Amino acid sequence: MDYKTAEKYLKDIGQEQLLDYFNELSISEQSQLLEDIQKTDFSVLENIGKKSAKPRGKITPIDAVSFAEIAQNRQQFEKEGLKLLSEGKVCALLLAGGQGTRLGFDKPKGMFNMGLSRNLPIFQILMNNMSESAVRAGRYFPVFIMTSSINNADTVKYFEDNDYFGYPKEKVYFYIQSETPACSYDGKVYLDKKHRIALSPNGNGGWYSSLVASGLNKVLEKEKIEWINLFGVDNVLQRICDPVFIGATALKNCGCGAKVVNKVSPDEKVGVMCKEDGKPSVIEYYEMDADLKNQRENGELVYRHGVILNYLFNLRALAATVSCKLPYHLAEKAIAHMENGERVIPAKPCGYKFETLAVDMVKLTGSAIAFEVEREREFAPVKNATGADSVDTARNLLIKNGVKL
Ligand code: UTP
Repeated sequence: MDYKTAEKYLKDIGQEQLLDYFNELSISEQSQLLEDIQKTDFSVLENIGKKSAKPRGKITPIDAVSFAEIAQNRQQFEKEGLKLLSEGKVCALLLAGGQGTRLGFDKPKGMFNMGLSRNLPIFQILMNNMSESAVRAGRYFPVFIMTSSINNADTVKYFEDNDYFGYPKEKVYFYIQSETPACSYDGKVYLDKKHRIALSPNGNGGWYSSLVASGLNKVLEKEKIEWINLFGVDNVLQRICDPVFIGATALKNCGCGAKVVNKVSPDEKVGVMCKEDGKPSVIEYYEMDADLKNQRENGELVYRHGVILNYLFNLRALAATVSCKLPYHLAEKAIAHMENGERVIPAKPCGYKFETLAVDMVKLTGSAIAFEVEREREFAPVKNATGADSVDTARNLLIKNGVKL
């Protein structure tokens, strides 16, 4: 794209501020900016002002695969899960493209040391966990790691330096997630530098389209993988490629399994499994009104099955969803940007980033189970530096579960 074309294009879409510093740039910086303009998907800006990406359908409760049912069928579920793992039909996918702004750690979150008397980074905990499942199944499964352009180099180097934490290197595949532009509250896209558009990772729902864009879906096809266990970087207690969970989802012929924990209170900020227009779905905490949140039956919250970002997706069910566009959610964030010729790093939110969410894929798969797991044994999120869901609360839970820190 040349300057004239860019100028006309940006004028048409009301983004001409992106050329404010053009005349100050070197030739190579000018071509970098023109390339950014050409590559950026400005259509996400249409989501500003929409109350919700899409109105919700009729929400009703879902019956989970309960602790009692799991206890009764554990052997059968486990046998099926181990069979699928040993046949090489399952892989794991770690979502590590987030920016972890709440934790305030300036490296990839997985590099955060949970140890007290020893070095125990989050990546080590997660890879140990996967090695355990692999050893039980007698086969190492592929592990895909989604990073972002911001943290990819640090993440890959850390795995290299730490010998892949004992996991076979040839089974680990990294890819970088796609990006969306960040803008001010009035919809003007920010410049991160005079010659670079402010871009940010497109949310954890971007994992599948970014995997396809990276070409790594060929590995899935070549290895004839049928199931992907998707999980977040920040739950240090979760079980990954848990054979009981895999077996339950597969034996129930579902397109998706979601591990769920009982919410601690109606106001806990987690999405919950429910039915939407009769189909399994996830509703986010901010989409639930007080009535829905507080509804009880026999003393128990009706909408209590909190999701913990540990899903099993069937690839065939996912392929059927490829043509369905995931909705964009607006996240209010502090965005570094150029202002009057200076780069400012605001302490408070100053605009929007656009993110798709993995939770929105559950409904698209058409059939899903909510699989109950014990909170104290499988959910220790490291989100904040202090307070709830922080390093301290997660460390306490690790200690309770016998992990030496
Ligand atoms: P969070 O919703 O906690 O977001 O991510 P975050 O960016 O890591 O943290 P904050 O909100 O800035 O504090 C949940 C999971 O989704 C991944 C994260 O790495 C984490 O595993 N994620 C999030 C991505 O992989 N890409 C994204 O664009 C966003």
